[in-house]
Amino acid sequence: MKAITFVTQKGGSGKSTLCISLAVAAQEAGHTVCILEMDRQATISDWLDHRTADGPEVAQIDATQIDLVMERLAESSYDYVFIDTPGVDSNGTLSAIRAADLCIIPCRPTPADLRAFKPTLAAVYRLEKKFAFVLNQTPPRSYRIRDAADGLAVLGILPDVNIVSRTDHQDAIGVGQGVTEYNPKGQAAGEIRRLWSWIERRMQATKPRTRKDMVKETRKDAGKHVKAA
Ligand SMILES: Nc1ncnc2c1ncn2[C@@H]1O[C@H](COP(=O)(O)OP(=O)(O)O)[C@@H](O)[C@H]1O
Ligand SMILES: [Mg+2]
Repeated sequence: MKAITFVTQKGGSGKSTLCISLAVAAQEAGHTVCILEMDRQATISDWLDHRTADGPEVAQIDATQIDLVMERLAESSYDYVFIDTPGVDSNGTLSAIRAADLCIIPCRPTPADLRAFKPTLAAVYRLEKKFAFVLNQTPPRSYRIRDAADGLAVLGILPDVNIVSRTDHQDAIGVGQGVTEYNPKGQAAGEIRRLWSWIERRMQATKPRTRKDMVKETRKDAGKHVKAA
């Protein structure tokens, strides 16, 4: 069982939206997935209330429960546990980062979002966790993406796909689906599937990456983003 934590203190950057659609995409790729919801805003539980399809399972937990829940899940048959965190820095968020095999830090290409992830990143570094940024709600093409991608690529790993701002994301959540279920042939679905396969490859990389590897990969990823923007 591997744990993926969606974390950044900036509300509205897309933690819950990405958590849901990636969990569905992971299921479609043949994995068993469970979501732990730590946010009292309960975006994921609301989504589940509208859901008619099977899985993923969702459990609401608080900061005091996470260690025990993770211990139990370690013996379960789930392939992945996705942890959705609230948009505040708290003990719960720290425990969720500690529990993670990979932290996903969603970030819109705005100055406020680019500033807001710094405390999260500090915690991720302190706990020596693997992480990746995901540029979310981007315009289809803009110099802002290129600037943000360049900045983020310097700080860490950036996938080879951005998640563009598309109404499919909002509409899918409203009817209890992931984007790949809501509009399987749509561009939002395609981006989410590409992001999931990037994450899966990243999770499967067993050899710990050295700082030199990271710099090399970062340069390669940054190059792709510059070309795409
Ligand atoms: N890629 C996207 N395209 C369009 N809307 C998005 C996208 N990602 C998130 N949203 C919307 O942005 C809002 C905040 O997203 P949410 O996932 O709740 O953020 P967080 O969990 O980080 O607070 C929601 O209304 C959601 O529908
Ligand atoms: Mg949320």
